[in-house]
Amino acid sequence: MSQPMLEFNGLVSGYGDTMVLRDVGGAVGPGEVLGILGRNGVGKTTLMKTLAGFIRPQQGAITLNGRSVLPLPPQNRLRAGMAYAPQENVVFGDLSVHENLWLHLDDHDESRYASCLSHFPRLSERMAQRSGLLSGGERKLLSFTRSIGLRAPLTLLDEPTEGVQPENIERMAGVVRTQCSSGAAFVIVEQNLAFLLSVATSVLVMDHGQVQLDKPISEVSREALEAFLMV
Ligand SMILES: Nc1ncnc2c1ncn2[C@@H]1O[C@H](COP(=O)(O)OP(=O)(O)O)[C@@H](O)[C@H]1O
Ligand SMILES: [Mg+2]
Repeated sequence: MSQPMLEFNGLVSGYGDTMVLRDVGGAVGPGEVLGILGRNGVGKTTLMKTLAGFIRPQQGAITLNGRSVLPLPPQNRLRAGMAYAPQENVVFGDLSVHENLWLHLDDHDESRYASCLSHFPRLSERMAQRSGLLSGGERKLLSFTRSIGLRAPLTLLDEPTEGVQPENIERMAGVVRTQCSSGAAFVIVEQNLAFLLSVATSVLVMDHGQVQLDKPISEVSREALEAFLMV
C-alpha cells in the first residue's frame, strides 16, 4: 500500500455507555478505495460517524496525512480534506436540488459538479425541484454528487447505492474510479457486493464492533465475502 492518507487504530466508540466499536483499525491511501462490509448492526455507520467527527471515540487514533483529526469537529475535518455522505438524512428535503449542492460552498464554480452530473441527466433536469420530492435512491445520488463536488482528497460514503437504480450504480462506480485515478481516496460502506468489488482496492469486514478481515481485493474471493455476510 502507498503511504496511507487516512489511518485509524484501536477505535473504541459508541453511544453513551454502549460501546459499539470495540477495536477497529484500518487505512486507505491515495487512489485507493477501502470497502467496508458487515451485516446489519455491526457498527459500520458508527465507524463512519466516528471517522467524520460526529461521535468522539473513547479510545483510538484517527490521522489524516499523518496528523490527528481527533480534536477537529466535523466541519473542520471537511476543511482538512474529509468529505462525508451519511447513510441517513442525506439531503435537506425543503431545499431544491440546486440549493443542496451549493449550500455550504462559497464559490459558484459550475465545473465542480459538471462531470459527475453529466452521468446523471435525470438529476440535472431536476435542479429546481424540492429535494423532498426525490425518491430515496435519487436523494442518495444527490448526496453522492454533492460529496464528489467537494473535491475532497478523502470521501466517506455510507451505503451510497441504497435504493439507486442499477444503471446509475454502474455510473457511480465509474465516477469513483475516475476520482481515484487522480489520487482521491474513498472509504465506502456497502451492502451491494458487486458495486463494492468493482471499486474497492481493499476490503474490511466488521463483526460485533471488531475487524474480521482486512485484505487487498486481490486476496479475497466474492464467495468468502458472501459467507461473512450470511446471517
Ligand atoms: N444513536 C444511537 N444510539 C444508541 N445506539 C445506537 C445508535 N445508533 C446505532 N446504535 C446501535 O449501534 C449498533 C451499530 O449500529 P450501526 O453502526 O448503525 O450499524 P450498521 O451501520 O453496521 O448497520 C446497533 O446495535 C445500533 O442499534
Ligand atoms: Mg449503517
